[in-house]
Amino acid sequence: MNDSLTEPTFANALKSVARNLKLKTYVQQSNELYPLLLRAAERFVTGDDMEQGLRCRETLNAQGYRTSLEYIGENTMTEAACLLAFQEFSRLIDACSNDRSGAGTRISLDLSHIGLSVDANLTYKHLVQLARQAAERGLEIVISMEESSKTDAILAIYRKTAAQFPNVGITLQAQLPRSLDDLQEILAAGSGFIRIVKGAYQEKEGDYIPRSGTLTSRYLQLVDLCVQAGRQVSVATHDERILLHIISNKMYRNSAVELEMLYGIRPDLSKQFKDLGFPTRIYLTYGEEWFLYLCHRIAEYPPNIYDAITRSIQGGTDTAAQY
Ligand code: FDA
Repeated sequence: MNDSLTEPTFANALKSVARNLKLKTYVQQSNELYPLLLRAAERFVTGDDMEQGLRCRETLNAQGYRTSLEYIGENTMTEAACLLAFQEFSRLIDACSNDRSGAGTRISLDLSHIGLSVDANLTYKHLVQLARQAAERGLEIVISMEESSKTDAILAIYRKTAAQFPNVGITLQAQLPRSLDDLQEILAAGSGFIRIVKGAYQEKEGDYIPRSGTLTSRYLQLVDLCVQAGRQVSVATHDERILLHIISNKMYRNSAVELEMLYGIRPDLSKQFKDLGFPTRIYLTYGEEWFLYLCHRIAEYPPNIYDAITRSIQGGTDTAAQY
C-alpha cells in the first residue's frame, strides 16, 4: 500500500462514518460503547451535560480567554426533538447571561440541530426566538456552516435573521469556492460578525479547495475582506502559518480580528497568543451527540487516533488544565 494515500483515505472513511446516522444512534444507545468512546471524545468535548460546559467556560474566562459554547448536535429529524434542542439552547443563553467575567460567551449552533432537516420555517422561528433572547441578555449567536448541500438554506435563514438581529453571526468555509461571493454579499448587506474556517465536511472532488497553499491564500483573502470592511472577524483555525501571519502583521492588530480555536487542539498556541495580548477565543462543546464531532477531529488530524484509543482504554489528562 502507498503510505501517502493511507491518511487521506482514512480521513475520508472516517468522515463517511461520521455521517452514518445508524452508527451514531448505535453508539449513543450502547451501554458499552458510549462510555468508552466518550472518554476519547472528552479531549475535545467538555462533557455530556451543560454544567460541564459552563464550568469549563468559567475556568477559561478567568484566564483571559473569550469562549464560544455549543450544545452539540445536527440533523435533528423530528419536530419534537428540534423543540427539545431549541429549549436547551434557550436554557444555555440564560445560564450564560449570568456571566460576571464580561467575556461575552458566544452561543454557537448548527441550524440542522434546531429544525433545518425538518422544515426551514421551524428553524427560522427557533433562531429568531433565540436571537431575541440573546440580544436582550447582551449575547451573540454564531451559526455554524454545514455541508455544501445546506449552504443556500443556511445563508437564506441567516440573512433574514441578521437583518433584524445584528448579534447573529455566520461561519463561512474557505474550502468552498462560493464563499468568496457569499462573503461579499454578506459584507454589503449587514454589520454582524463573521467566522472564517477552512471547512470540515467531505465534499465531492472538484467542488472544494483541498488543504493547500491555494486554500491558505483564499482563507487570508476572506479574512482581509472582512478587515477592510471593518467587520469583526474570527480567524478560526489551528494553522500555525495563518495564525503567525495574523499576529505578526500590524494591519490586524488594530482591527476587530480575534483568533478562535477548538477546545483540545493546540492549547499551547492558544495560550501563547492569548499571553501576547491577542484576543483568543476557545470553542467549547457539550452534549450527548459528540460522535460526529469526535470523528471530524480525528479525520482532520489522523494521529489523534492514538490518543483516542489510549483515552478509551485508560482515560486521559484534563484538557482544561492545558490552557
Ligand atoms: P488544517 O486542517 O490545515 O490543520 C492545520 C494544523 O492544525 C494541522 O497540521 C495540525 O497541526 C493542527 N490541527 C488541525 N486539526 C487538528 C486536530 N483535529 N487535532 C490536532 N491538530 C489539529 N468547520 C465547518 O465545516 N463548519 C463550521 O461551522 C466550523 N466551525 C468551526 C469553529 C471553530 C472555532 C474552529 C476552530 C473550526 C471550525 N470548523 C468548522 C472546523 C474547520 O473547518 C477545520 O476543519 C478545522 O479547524 C481544522 O482545520 P484547520 O483550519 O485547523 O487547518
